[in-house]
Amino acid sequence: MNANTPIELEIGMGRAHFLFERAAVVPEHQIVGIEYKARWVSQAFKKQIRESIYNVTPIHGDAWEVVPKLFSPESLDAIFLNFPDPWWKRRHHKRRILNNQFLEILVACMKPGAQFFFQSDVCELFEIYRDLLKSRLKEIPCEKNPIGARSHREKKCESLGLPVY
Ligand SMILES: C[S@@+](CC[C@H](N)C(=O)[O-])C[C@H]1O[C@@H](n2cnc3c(N)ncnc32)[C@H](O)[C@@H]1O
Repeated sequence: MNANTPIELEIGMGRAHFLFERAAVVPEHQIVGIEYKARWVSQAFKKQIRESIYNVTPIHGDAWEVVPKLFSPESLDAIFLNFPDPWWKRRHHKRRILNNQFLEILVACMKPGAQFFFQSDVCELFEIYRDLLKSRLKEIPCEKNPIGARSHREKKCESLGLPVY
């Protein structure tokens, strides 16, 4: 990796299907995934070593803490948020990954022209996050995932015939 290597970030990568598929689509990019469940990070590390994949960086931690420490302003070429936890109960809403404060941090880390790709199978959460994202970023609607990589949850939705927003 050199100073000009494009860097992409997946927040809450889970089982890291998307992370590795995206790494194969853009081998010249470095794909960083942050996940706070140690088990998924450990599995991603093992796969990375087993298959000698050098353009993924799985990181164990809370994205709220890791992102501002790890990334400098205007350093990211893309951010992916796939199927974030809905945290249904009102008293748990504060745990939802995207809020005004974290969005400001993410936007500051994005290069001019960087893309933020978000998808969810929860219509209500999709609408809330979409409005939040639209307050800071220009919306480019898409019918289908145009990234060339699919997350574990995305594959599950497809196999069950569930809608993805
Ligand atoms: C519903 S799962 C979706 C996983 C994956 N993106 C997918 O689409 O299959 C949400 C993931 O985000 C992770 N997560 C939630 N909040 C996080 C945070 N603040 N920092 C890091 N990971 C987080 C969870 O541990 C979980 O693995």
